[in-house]
Amino acid sequence: MPFENLLTELKDRILYVTINRESKLNALNRTTIAELHAAFADAFENPEVGGIIITGAGQKAFVAGADISEFAAGDGATGAELARLGQATVFDLIENGNKPVIAAINGFALGGGLELAMACHIRIASDNAKMGLPEVTLGLIPGYGGTQRLPLLVGKGKAFEMIMTADMITADEAFRCGLVNHVTAQENLLPKAGELMDKILSRAPLAVASAIRAINAGQKEGVNGFEAEIAEFGRCFDTADFKEGVKAFAEKRKPEFKGV
Ligand code: COA
Repeated sequence: MPFENLLTELKDRILYVTINRESKLNALNRTTIAELHAAFADAFENPEVGGIIITGAGQKAFVAGADISEFAAGDGATGAELARLGQATVFDLIENGNKPVIAAINGFALGGGLELAMACHIRIASDNAKMGLPEVTLGLIPGYGGTQRLPLLVGKGKAFEMIMTADMITADEAFRCGLVNHVTAQENLLPKAGELMDKILSRAPLAVASAIRAINAGQKEGVNGFEAEIAEFGRCFDTADFKEGVKAFAEKRKPEFKGV
């Protein structure tokens, strides 16, 4: 499907999604949000896609935030609807997807850009990347899940500081505080993300999907994460891949998982 603001390429079961508005530092406008929804919804359904790596075009920015030029005057209800729609159609969709998603942060990840990276399951940053939630400089707060996901990753104190000061942090600091999993030179960013994804794709896909659901369950209101884990553990027992995994271990060979 051709997109206006996204490039997509499927290579060896990995779908590479590149946000392609380089002249606006890949800022998320309405069209981009709608296209991200379409691309991820399709990728989660498409049996040829094993996992998704998302990055930004160019060497300067992953995504420099929601598109500020679209923040036209509107009332509280308009603002709430903007946040609700974005969260449901893109950010929650990605976090709760049935396939692994890695953010390859190739430069500025600010506001909605950092929120997008935080909705992904794993983050890798290039060493020039800068990250922050600068919304209070605009008289706003993060609206795409930033106040909820940042404390889970970096702790409440660091999240308060980052959100209230609006300061950016470097890739190294992001690594030290747990916001990103790895830091690499820019030219190694996509290879490193691909390598990590290849390893995940060599594991049992239904077990990986169960792990995503079980890990996320702990953060859902009214859901007992331990019970969710028990249910997902049981569900894995019903898969052919579980039988193959155990058999391969006993036979001292690599398992051949089929995703069933
Ligand atoms: N929304 C819309 N346009 C944006 C944008 C955003 N979030 N971030 C950058 N742009 C646009 C700029 O307006 C500029 O467009 P122009 O050339 O048509 O004027 C272009 O991208 C390049 O950005 P510029 O500010 O000139 O680059 P810089 O190197 O001087 O600064 C940043 C880089 C990231 C520090 C700066 O662009 C910035 O602070 N962006 C906004 C970050 C933000 O507050 N995000 C949260 C939004 S809720």
